[in-house]
Amino acid sequence: MIAKSAEGRVSRAAIQRVSPLMKSGARRTLLRVFLQSTAIFALIAPQLAAQESPMAGAPTGLRCEYLSDPAGIDVAQPRLSWILEHAARGERQTAYQVLVSLKAEVSAGDQWDSGKVSSSQSVHVAYAGKPLVSSQIYYWKVRFWDSGDRPSPYSAAARFETGLFKVSEWKGKWIDGSNQIRKEFTLAARPVRARAYIAGLGYYELRINGRKVGDHALDPAWTTYDKRVLYNVYDITERLRPGANAVGVMLGEGWFKARALRMQIHVEMEGGQAVDAATDESWRTMPGPIQQDSVYNGEVYDARLETPGWDRAGFDDAHWKAATLIDGPKGELSAQMMPPIRLLDSITPVKMTTPRPGVYVYDLGQNISGVVELHVRGPRGTRVQLRHAELLYDDGTLNVENLRAAKATDVYFLRGDGTLETYQPRFTYHGFRYVELIGYPGAPKFDTLRARVVHSDVRPTGGFTSSKQILNQIQRNILWGIQDNLHSVPTDCNQRDERMGWMADAHLYAETAMLNFDMPAFYTNFLRDIHDVQAADGTVTDTVPHRYGSRPADPAWGMAYPLLTWYMYEYYGDRRTLEQHFDGVKAWTDYLRSRSRDGLLEYSYYGDWVPIDKTPGALVSTFCYYWSADIVARMAELLGKSTEAETYRKLAGEIKDAFNAKFLNAATGTYGTGTQTAQILPLFLNMTPNNRRGAVFGSLRDDLVYTHNTHLTTGILGTKYLFPLLTSTGNSDLAYELATQTTYPSWGYMVENGATTLWELWQNKTGPSMNSHNHPMFGSIGAWFYNALAGINLDPAKPGFERIVIAPQVVRDLKWASGSLDTIRGTVTSSWTRSDNGLRLEVTIPVGSQAEVHIPELGSDPATLSESGHVIWKDGQYQPGTPGIVNVRKTGETLTVDAGSGRYNFTL
Ligand code: BGC
Repeated sequence: MIAKSAEGRVSRAAIQRVSPLMKSGARRTLLRVFLQSTAIFALIAPQLAAQESPMAGAPTGLRCEYLSDPAGIDVAQPRLSWILEHAARGERQTAYQVLVSLKAEVSAGDQWDSGKVSSSQSVHVAYAGKPLVSSQIYYWKVRFWDSGDRPSPYSAAARFETGLFKVSEWKGKWIDGSNQIRKEFTLAARPVRARAYIAGLGYYELRINGRKVGDHALDPAWTTYDKRVLYNVYDITERLRPGANAVGVMLGEGWFKARALRMQIHVEMEGGQAVDAATDESWRTMPGPIQQDSVYNGEVYDARLETPGWDRAGFDDAHWKAATLIDGPKGELSAQMMPPIRLLDSITPVKMTTPRPGVYVYDLGQNISGVVELHVRGPRGTRVQLRHAELLYDDGTLNVENLRAAKATDVYFLRGDGTLETYQPRFTYHGFRYVELIGYPGAPKFDTLRARVVHSDVRPTGGFTSSKQILNQIQRNILWGIQDNLHSVPTDCNQRDERMGWMADAHLYAETAMLNFDMPAFYTNFLRDIHDVQAADGTVTDTVPHRYGSRPADPAWGMAYPLLTWYMYEYYGDRRTLEQHFDGVKAWTDYLRSRSRDGLLEYSYYGDWVPIDKTPGALVSTFCYYWSADIVARMAELLGKSTEAETYRKLAGEIKDAFNAKFLNAATGTYGTGTQTAQILPLFLNMTPNNRRGAVFGSLRDDLVYTHNTHLTTGILGTKYLFPLLTSTGNSDLAYELATQTTYPSWGYMVENGATTLWELWQNKTGPSMNSHNHPMFGSIGAWFYNALAGINLDPAKPGFERIVIAPQVVRDLKWASGSLDTIRGTVTSSWTRSDNGLRLEVTIPVGSQAEVHIPELGSDPATLSESGHVIWKDGQYQPGTPGIVNVRKTGETLTVDAGSGRYNFTL
């Protein structure tokens, strides 16, 4: 798994220290190893069914539309994926069989029996059984045949539950009222199956018979409500009982900035009867204790106004008003098919100070997205106030200047019944490290409050760690920065009056997010959000949903549409996304074309945003226009649209020529005004004529190394592409020096100045201007940690990690590095450590994938390479015979090993 043997202990401890997020991924890896060794035991188990492979394990990690056992699937042909398990190396799937049934034990495929399908496809197998019906649980399992045509055992059964396919199935109507809405209903018999379907805008909390349902927070996801509203599905069977039942819904304004509810409950009972409770004007409503709620400003909660028992049966609601029927938002109702926002870790403060009498300031030691859980006892009506900030002034008081208009203040009025009261706001979240508590009755203690971390609950999928502490700290800041900014859309920041789905920010940190978290369902949803804002003229907007910025988007912001679509293909092998968004991506590119003149695109608002040296906007926009055309051409090729492929390939060629003619000074070998970004962008996309590449790269290197003493001057775009460019041109040492730099401007400079997340600016600013201290866009470098330092790379020719290139860069003083990633096909790891005169490299390749492992010779010529004690390269020759290894060859200073699935221990 993670850097083993000599360094094993050190690195595992380091992972836990630098990245608690790593743990679950590592645990799963352990589990898988355990499962594989169990499969070896099975070798000698006589009771094993004779026809089954003794080595092929039952598939694991069954997913439907990227989700484990999802409830609320509303696509007609959901795609199924599984992870192959096999104890032998170099194994793969040659055939599969999927059974889908209405019965939990799945003894037969009564809805779909795929039969034995000869195919290596283990991801995105589209359901092809009887047409799916609404509100139905489908159970499924799968087995596969290995290279010897021996079947594995069947997997354990997984399930998915459908949502509501037709609008006509929505019995609930949109209603409006105060922030508490209730309804009672009676069940004549014991419920055997009950579901709630709910769309509650802006945010809702669903309560049944006195308790909250589910563990989601700040649901539903933010969408362009006139285009789409998302609903959630809950199994509420266990919550109901024969007789009277009550449902209560609290509503917050959220991003909708108003309240609206549409929901229905469907209960099937013993004896076959059914009852529905659906929103209409018979539901009753009354303002509750939440006096104000706002995403930016916080919540005001008066506990004296609580209406105890309102969410239980038998409550007297005679004085409550009838809810009003409203038209509601125009958007289509769709199931929310992505990880919800949840309250996750608890953080206890590391410090408490009293900068002024009665003013208490808590330091969490970490900049987070979340809310405070406050414990307080005191007189009725006491007003306690919590204010949140990222920064402090020197005197220890809160500096909220950079929050701009966001008040980030929660207020609680005590019930005062003598008990210890607990308050935690429901319909807001803040970006903060410091909390100011005032109005507290008595002297608060350390444990008077703790913080709860709140964000989209995307599973951590791995980790990166290394012998260089500054990199580990940067990685930690990246992880916090990204997760703090996943709030159903990828946001730019989490604290000030923005928190928008700014599109450049979104695509710049997407690859880092995909390497650290389980992102495909999240981005599938976000791509639909982008599609939802696209106008008939092809334009998309700077922010999605569109609240800030312009339509049309800056070309570098609109790039999120082609790029996220393409990343979904590269990282997850998702062809359906390509199909669904081909027209949209093409329409955006056509829009850019309509704005171009002679192959150049002039319009630009932000360009290479927040740089130290500004690059001309037209250069950046034309680069984006070229890239969009190039991606349309690639998509068209993959989708078999050869005419379009040719058209856009040609268009890209014309743009490239125009770009070079306009911006390349052939005499000096520099682009534009000579900024680093101006060189990086065309070099990265190979737009530079071959005979000028060396010169342009030379200009870039001189600027980095000599003019700026090994510092970058790039904005958000140049920064992202600089690192892969340096590595692909054999300059990883330079990339490493830039990445580990600790003086301004650098990530290390942020760390040295106390950052626990990433800043928006290279500069250390704390005033009222634009200077968020939690902006993940510079987190793009996190992808380079995996790709270059750990050496884990996908191969776009076999996307979704079907083919993997392991190419660790053994740079400068780096002694070891380790990366682990749960891909859609299983776990990939790469961990290397230098030994006295060579290198040890441990690699894991999932069953069904192939790898090319690049091992630098490190000057040891003639090199001898062995794998788990077997010599596989000696005297310049491949030494065959080691399981899983197909070939070893030498290219330049590198030994390249072709290998199949399995775990390998290479020693040079
Ligand atoms: C946001 C950015 C965004 C930019 C666009 C800022 O206010 O926070 O991250 O991309 O505006 O100019």
